[in-house]
Amino acid sequence: MMHQAILLSVLLGLTSATFVQDCGSAGTIVSAEIEDCELPPCVITRPNNKDVNITFTPGNEVTDLKTKIDAFIGGVHFPWPGPGGCELIVEGSCPLQVGEQYKYHAAMPVLAEYPSLSAVVTWKLVDQDDRDQVCIAFPIDIV
Ligand SMILES: *[C@@H]1O[C@H](CO)[C@@H](O)[C@H](O)[C@H]1NC(C)=O
Repeated sequence: MMHQAILLSVLLGLTSATFVQDCGSAGTIVSAEIEDCELPPCVITRPNNKDVNITFTPGNEVTDLKTKIDAFIGGVHFPWPGPGGCELIVEGSCPLQVGEQYKYHAAMPVLAEYPSLSAVVTWKLVDQDDRDQVCIAFPIDIV
């Protein structure tokens, strides 16, 4: 309960400026957009496919990138199958250089068979050394 209250206030505090929260990126997030999500939580009907677009500058040279997704539901972490990494860089390409800006574009599929639920999604771009170049978190309500 205590942790949920803290998490909620952290999310609400940061989302007054932007919908997503930076959860410890080694790189710098220039912008992060989840399609049609401007206010928390993001209400998503099923089935759906939402663009996840992140523009960022890496904190170090990146030769390999993976997407890692986690859904935090009712106090439990569920890993969610994620797409690749380098092949989703739509402006620029790997290896990513420090000081350059890159755009990542992925889709977040919400399948018809998913149950309705509330979750906090953590979406990470992890480099060759297991460093979170990008870590964003955002609340969703699947209805
Ligand atoms: C995300 O990026 C893709 C590729 O650049 C673009 O086609 C799409 O419109 C963008 N979506 C949003 C919500 O910005």
